[in-house]
Amino acid sequence: MIERSVEISFEFDGKNYPAFDGETIAAALLRSNVLNIRNAPSGSPRGIFCVMGACQECVVEIDGIKVEACRTSVADGLIIKRAHDV
Ligand code: FES
Repeated sequence: MIERSVEISFEFDGKNYPAFDGETIAAALLRSNVLNIRNAPSGSPRGIFCVMGACQECVVEIDGIKVEACRTSVADGLIIKRAHDV
């Protein structure tokens, strides 16, 4: 039997989502079927692509700082915003 870490929650664009402590923001959003995690300057939806920090398609904002969702661990109560100008 696989044991999971502690279940936590975080906010993405005003909605709460579940996560497991230690997983990446990208993994947690994918498990919740959130595929559009940023918008290009043209407004077109973007999402996770390379999952290794190379493409920048997963950039989100935390406290005004842009981070890669595929390389950033989620934390309980974390407030994340969809990036629009990347
Ligand atoms: S999915 Fe490519 S940098 Fe995160």
